[in-house]
Amino acid sequence: MRPDLSDTRRKHPGTRASEFPAGFAPPIDLSCVEGGVVPIDEDAVRSDLRAHGYSYVDDVGESFDLRTGFGFLGEPVPQYLGEYVRDVRPDPAISDDVITPYNRSEVLPHTEWFEFPDVPPRYVVLHAVVAASSGGETTLADGYGYLATFSAEDRAELARRSYRWRSQVTLESEGIHQEASAPILTAVDGRPVLRFSSLFMECADDFSKNFVAAGREYFRRTRVAIPIGSGGALVWDNWRMLHARNAFTDRRRHLRRVIIGAA
Ligand SMILES: [Fe+2]
Repeated sequence: MRPDLSDTRRKHPGTRASEFPAGFAPPIDLSCVEGGVVPIDEDAVRSDLRAHGYSYVDDVGESFDLRTGFGFLGEPVPQYLGEYVRDVRPDPAISDDVITPYNRSEVLPHTEWFEFPDVPPRYVVLHAVVAASSGGETTLADGYGYLATFSAEDRAELARRSYRWRSQVTLESEGIHQEASAPILTAVDGRPVLRFSSLFMECADDFSKNFVAAGREYFRRTRVAIPIGSGGALVWDNWRMLHARNAFTDRRRHLRRVIIGAA
C-alpha cells in the first residue's frame, strides 16, 4: 500500500543537525516506507547545510534512488569508473591494517576528490543500505572553522602554494591512479574550497606538514560522530567539511556514495 506521504512528511522530517548530539543514534522507523518514496524535506536539508555544513535524513529507505534523490542540490558527478553510485563496503581482500574506506579500519580526515584538478564536488551523500551493528560512524568537522585559525597571510599562502595530490592507494586494485597539482585553498564565486588529505597530499615543506598535523588535531578536537542508520542518508558540504570514519567490525556494513557538483 502506498503510504500517506503528507503524513510521512509530518512524522519524519529530515533530522536537523542541530538536534543531533554526537555519538547518539537517532530512532529509525521505516514502518511507513514499505517500498514507497518518502519525500525529503529539501528546505530543512538546505538550511542544515548552510548552518552546519551537513544534514542527516533518517528515513529515505533502503531502496532510495540515490542518484537522483538529492538532485535538488546539483548534478551528480560520475565517479572513478564512471559510476554515479559507488558502493563503500569492506573488501575481504584488503587487510584492516590498511587505512582505506574499503575495509573496516578507521579512516583519517580528508575532503573528497582532492586528487582531481577540477573544482571538487560540492556535496557528498552517503546512504546506508546496511549499517554496522556498532562503530563505523561518519565523523565531520568544520574546515572553515579550521581556516579561521590561520592569519590572513597564511590563508593567502594556502591559496598560493601548489601541492601534489594522489588517489587512495587501495584504488589501484581497480586500476585507478589519479594525481593532480592544486593549492589547498581555492574559491568559487568567493566561496572557499578546501582540500585536505591526511595521507595523500605530498607534504613538500614545513608549511604543508604543519597544515596537515594541525588539521588532524583540529579534527580530533571538534569532530561530531554520526551513525548513519540503515535507510538513512548523510549529506555534507565538501568544500567546507572534513570527514573521516570510525573503525567497525561488522562485515555486512554497506554504504553507497553519490557526489554532487556545484549547483
Ligand atoms: Fe571520503
